[in-house]
Amino acid sequence: MCCGRLLISRRRVVILVGRAMVTLRETASHIKEVREEEWRVLSIIERNLGRYERFPVERIVRITGYSKEFVDEVIRRLAEYGWVERFLQPYESVRLLTSGADAIALRMLAEKNIVVGVGRQIGVGKESDVYEAIGPDGSRLSLKVFRLGRISFRDIARKRDYFDASAPNRPSWILRNYMAARKEFRVLKYLYRCGVSVPKPIANVKHIIVMEELDGDILINVRDLPDPRGILERIIEEVRKAYDAGVVNGDLSPFNIFITRDYRVIIIDWPQAIYRDKGAHEDALIRDVTYIAQYFSKKYGVSVDVESVLREKFGLELRREGG
Ligand SMILES: Nc1ncnc2c1ncn2[C@@H]1O[C@H](COP(=O)(O)OP(=O)(O)O)[C@@H](O)[C@H]1O
Ligand SMILES: [Mg+2]
Repeated sequence: MCCGRLLISRRRVVILVGRAMVTLRETASHIKEVREEEWRVLSIIERNLGRYERFPVERIVRITGYSKEFVDEVIRRLAEYGWVERFLQPYESVRLLTSGADAIALRMLAEKNIVVGVGRQIGVGKESDVYEAIGPDGSRLSLKVFRLGRISFRDIARKRDYFDASAPNRPSWILRNYMAARKEFRVLKYLYRCGVSVPKPIANVKHIIVMEELDGDILINVRDLPDPRGILERIIEEVRKAYDAGVVNGDLSPFNIFITRDYRVIIIDWPQAIYRDKGAHEDALIRDVTYIAQYFSKKYGVSVDVESVLREKFGLELRREGG
């Protein structure tokens, strides 16, 4: 982490490191001790995310009727949790941080009695962190927490403009995460209903999706795969079922295919799914199938004729240039 410091100003590093260090578990551990007034202020800031990146403190005073001193005290406590960041210039304001949104979502999940405990992190993806959680009946759940816009320290110099809150119309990453989670949850519900092998979706609040916890690992990590041809056929079969239901994953790879301990195939990670009526889904399908076929051919020496799979299973003719 320290090498990132060289890239950017000291002040910014402190802010980013501070934010990155608040884990979901830590946030969850504070939920019960937070006072009603603190939740109230936090949710006012959150509700206004679409209009204000930095919400004026003076408006909080007006909306709540609390004294300025009291609001300052509340903001100080929220900042201690790492949930908000306070600014004095150009006007006194407060900005919701990712962990603040986590807190709001976790509290809702607790109040709705969907999640009673948050456990260890079980996955890190391109755009999310996945945690183990416990349901009210003791069932094991997984929480997919969207983290679009999360930047690696290597990327900071290139991407730091995104974090410049003074940039006009800067879209809030938090809101984008809400949208991505909502989209993936809808796709999962639909595909699950259609009988496609996807994790059972349970709930969605804000940027968190709750689903069943799968026992196994993603294909890329599976050491000894018995019957790779059979697995490839099952993957193609699930892709076909989704395609029949009008949905193409669009990001199919050994990172997004989950193999359970008993070697069932479950396709995860659908926020970028492409619907039939939106066009471009055929190209995405060809890409998905070709990519997976190539992976099995390289890694396991199992080859399928992509062209005939596309024709026979999906009714698609591969377009050839000049032909
Ligand atoms: N339902 C689940 N049960 C157990 N682990 C999961 C589940 N969903 C995702 N994971 C783990 O979390 C990782 C990231 O999830 P994924 O949906 O692929 O997100 P991303 O869009 O960030 O790639 C996966 O690679 C997998 O290891
Ligand atoms: Mg993934």
